[in-house]
Amino acid sequence: MMQNNDTKLADRLNYSQVESVIHNFYIKLMAHPQLGRFFEGLDNFQEHEQRITEFWWMSMGGKLKNPPQIDMIGKHFPLGIQASDLETWLVLFGETLGEELPDAESREWMHKALTIAARLKQVVIEHQAPGLQIGEPQ
Ligand code: HEM
Repeated sequence: MMQNNDTKLADRLNYSQVESVIHNFYIKLMAHPQLGRFFEGLDNFQEHEQRITEFWWMSMGGKLKNPPQIDMIGKHFPLGIQASDLETWLVLFGETLGEELPDAESREWMHKALTIAARLKQVVIEHQAPGLQIGEPQ
């Protein structure tokens, strides 16, 4: 779903806006009674927040000198995330986007988050094979 003359999100947002969204999202996550506990064990929280920011910047088509090696499945699998956790995560993420960004960019970023979350749900919660794509006939 491309908008605004098909320019990628990284052309319409600054890196610092992405940083700000993630920072404010993590304030909500950490304070949340259902989700805060997942992040308590991180030994370098600054580094985690930076990796998340870089992950999103790359996913928007942004460029980085040293892109992070992201292991979505490997990192989330051991956490024991439930479907209700993922739903809350998405609510908080959508809330943060709405507070921080104009509507078009907020919606487009949320669309990306929903796509990734759906894949994460299939693999990490429903234990389907990682190669299986969303919408593929079973
Ligand atoms: C209930 C929902 C979620 C919880 C509790 C959660 C929790 C975590 C935690 C604790 C880590 C750090 C793991 C580690 O470094 O050992 C992590 C990493 C990460 N998460 Fe999530 N996560 C959730 C959903 C999502 C979703 C929906 C996305 C993206 C749309 C996402 C993106 C990432 C990324 C990019 C990393 C970095 C992976 C890496 O360092 O290689 N997470 N998550």
